[in-house]
Amino acid sequence: MPPAAMTERPTSLTGIKPTNEPHLGNYLGAIRPALGLSATYDTFYFIADYHALTMVRDREAMRKSVYDVAATWLACGLDPSATTFFRQSDVPEVFELAWVLSCMVATGQLERGHSYKDALAKGEAPNAGIFNYPVLMAADIVLYDTNVVPVGKDQKQHLELTRDMATRFNHLFGAGEELLVVPEPLIGEAQLVPGLDGHKMSKSRGNGIVLFWPQKKLRKTIMKIVTGSEPLEAPKEPAGTLFELTRLLTPHVADEMAERLRAGGYGWGHAKQDFFEALDAELAPMRERYEALRADEPALDAMLAEGAERARVRARQTMTRVRHAIGMR
Ligand code: ADP
Ligand code: TRP
Repeated sequence: MPPAAMTERPTSLTGIKPTNEPHLGNYLGAIRPALGLSATYDTFYFIADYHALTMVRDREAMRKSVYDVAATWLACGLDPSATTFFRQSDVPEVFELAWVLSCMVATGQLERGHSYKDALAKGEAPNAGIFNYPVLMAADIVLYDTNVVPVGKDQKQHLELTRDMATRFNHLFGAGEELLVVPEPLIGEAQLVPGLDGHKMSKSRGNGIVLFWPQKKLRKTIMKIVTGSEPLEAPKEPAGTLFELTRLLTPHVADEMAERLRAGGYGWGHAKQDFFEALDAELAPMRERYEALRADEPALDAMLAEGAERARVRARQTMTRVRHAIGMR
């Protein structure tokens, strides 16, 4: 069986770790662009629970977080009948491929991995899961004949490693043929969404705008974003975290905001209110759906199980090809 892309629509795939409640960076950097691809791509979107195990050491936190991420994807508009939507851990073939791909990468390449290097630099003693993280991620991607991977900029290095592993495999075992599809990252406009402190918005930094906070908390948090302190009348330069968030969320609102800021007589408090309104207009209907979806864990389980069955069909096809190529029966 040849790679799926040769017979079907191209495939888009991405994963989100169940480490905490998804934030605006996840939404603008990965979820919204990924959902936008479903008209033209065959989409595989999943919950990277085994990747989360490198950090999440609490069964209840893991359990809860998987449902948070699942309900988030669905509330944001993922259609489970059109997208293969599943948990990573429901497709054991990924671990078999991870082993094969680990034999395609030099340890030196993994030693240069950002997350591993950061952990060492912080004086931590990273577990081998953090070291091997890029290999499992490569297997996630390659297993489904993925053509494009919508992600934020922080994942660029992982995609480069994935490309290296797939290319090396093809070189060694494919005799010039693309046995494994070599994927492209799809890094969109919102490649690095800033957090409340101006640094990259991230679950671990605690600087995030959680997507489905209640409206009151959302507004309160936005009002606390640090901005300039020029007097109301003064013309202002449209820049900084608040403006950047507005630009990434709703470019048309940002254009208007820029004009008003430059003209003067429009304060940062007004800008915050305008950003809040734009964000709330987009999130409010999703927030309502989120609450309903999140409340029904058995329904989420059923959806994910159904997705995993479909995912395994393609996973098995790839593994048959791989096993044959490397001389395993
Ligand atoms: P986090 O970095 O907060 O732990 P994840 O690692 O689970 O979040 O990221 C899931 C997806 O969201 C990835 O594609 C990642 O690139 C994207 N992402 C996370 N934070 C940001 C951000 N601040 N800007 C753009 N994309 C982001
Ligand atoms: N490493 C990604 C992150 O931290 C999550 C992830 C795991 C992923 N496997 C993937 C993303 C495959 C895209 C494709 O955000």
